[in-house]
Amino acid sequence: MTEQRYELMKVALGEAEADLVIINGDIVNVYTGEIIKEASVLTKGDRIAYVGNDTGKSIGPSTRVIDATGKTLIPGLIDGHAHIDSLYSISEILRYAMKGGTTTIITETSSIASVLGYEGVVQFLRASQNQPIKVFITAPPLVTLSPVTEEHAITVGELRQLLRRKEIIGLGESYWGGVVNGDRRILDLITETIKMGKRVEGHSSGARDSKLQAYVASGISSCHESITAEEVRERLRLGLFVLIREGEIRRELETISRIREENINFSRLALATDGIGPQHLINEGYMEFLVQKAINLGFNPILAIQMASINTAQHFAIDDVIGGIAPGRYADIVIIPNLHTIRAEYVISNGQVVAQNGELLVPPRKHHYPKSSQNSLHLAKNFDAGDFAIPAEGSRRKVRVIDQVTNLVTREELIDMPVSDGQLKPDISKDILKVAAIERAYGTGKKSVGLVRGIGLKQGAIVTSSVWDCGDIIVVGADETDMAQAVNRVRQLNGGVVVCAGNRILAELPLPVAGATSTQPMEIINSKLQDIRKVAKDLGCHLPDIHITLAVFPTPAIPFLRICESGLFNLRQNKFVDLIVG
Ligand SMILES: [Fe+2]
Repeated sequence: MTEQRYELMKVALGEAEADLVIINGDIVNVYTGEIIKEASVLTKGDRIAYVGNDTGKSIGPSTRVIDATGKTLIPGLIDGHAHIDSLYSISEILRYAMKGGTTTIITETSSIASVLGYEGVVQFLRASQNQPIKVFITAPPLVTLSPVTEEHAITVGELRQLLRRKEIIGLGESYWGGVVNGDRRILDLITETIKMGKRVEGHSSGARDSKLQAYVASGISSCHESITAEEVRERLRLGLFVLIREGEIRRELETISRIREENINFSRLALATDGIGPQHLINEGYMEFLVQKAINLGFNPILAIQMASINTAQHFAIDDVIGGIAPGRYADIVIIPNLHTIRAEYVISNGQVVAQNGELLVPPRKHHYPKSSQNSLHLAKNFDAGDFAIPAEGSRRKVRVIDQVTNLVTREELIDMPVSDGQLKPDISKDILKVAAIERAYGTGKKSVGLVRGIGLKQGAIVTSSVWDCGDIIVVGADETDMAQAVNRVRQLNGGVVVCAGNRILAELPLPVAGATSTQPMEIINSKLQDIRKVAKDLGCHLPDIHITLAVFPTPAIPFLRICESGLFNLRQNKFVDLIVG
């Protein structure tokens, strides 16, 4: 490293040849908020050596020169909070990231960890290294409702092992409910992370006043869950780093954008996707879309760029190496037409031109997961309709139904239902379906069956083995035989999303890696997900993306009646609750 630094210094002094020189560009200086007009950047190896007007002397015969006259140079963009450990492989998201000018992704690992534990994080780390752009990882605290998954969460010792690596820059999002309720396991992970000088990512949706303050007092350092400008301001005042979310799950940028009118310090405000799906990646792009949208919504362009570069780098204490165009930093630079048009003409990562005008010049590395990662569905037997029976005595029972308020949020509804042949059955006329959570990662054979209202399915069943925060399968159905067939198909596929009805498989997306990730190209995943949505709609489903609705059934992140293999969980009461209540 000393040698490399010495080389950089020699290039800066004009005593050695630069490898790449970008001349005559207007450079956005994210440190001061200025634009340095008609300046040049000199790089050597993967780093920047010099930024300024004195360039000629370091240009030698083997120096590549890019003329950026009339163009603008910005730092490579950073997604400050992502979930790229499921659905698509790293090489696929990187294709889209690189084309658009994203050179760093900071991602959670809860999906892979909830199925494969510590080993899964290590595998994911291997997949993300030696790529043309940077992937930093947060270790998974695994805040889960599932007692089975929790048993396999990483220990403090394993966390320490992970945090010793420079690519692991903190502890992933620890939802506020568990932390404020004093969950010792999570608090110990937080303490260890802080002790090792790294960040603890937060998730304080809906928290305010003293509960929010208690959460911050635990050592949490960020939040990406604000949905109003007021929530952003409250969190900034408490010293939190705030990420405005614009991605697959929610889009808050437009609502929050009026924060720009306030005369406050925005250096701890950033942009993040919190996960992005194939459709948005293909149709809109990645972080370049967020920055452009922020500009279109009236953010000062320099601030919009800072929110996707230096601000995030500073939060994670990696601003010595990324986040700005300055000597000693990695040469991660995007050349765009002008300050108001975030369209990458050149994307330079680690000193290498990796994409030009939307064309990828350097392919991301494909990672092959070991067989063990592709054999993660531990279900001892095939299912039949009887596995989804809800036995009940008498002629009518009062039952606790999961009521879909939105496609994500649920509440509890007590409904009087008839008992037929000693069982509670789906009631299509009232839009009441069955839902089951089946533990599949650890071979316990545990499952629970409940009832859900508000999905709209008139027939058939839909299943996914890719869910949030636990190693369960979630299946919803209007018919128990179809539910069994859908689960059996997923078992056969070693993971995936399947829609079936009337004994026929109507659409499917295999997810063989950890039962959660496809090995297919992004475009194929996108078309298969579209098929799944369409077929679900044809069966009566009126929610926009049934796969996401299924995936969040077992999460403690979204209110408030949830289901995992161990039963129904009421997040307001913070306890498991009975299905039959009277
Ligand atoms: Fe997240």
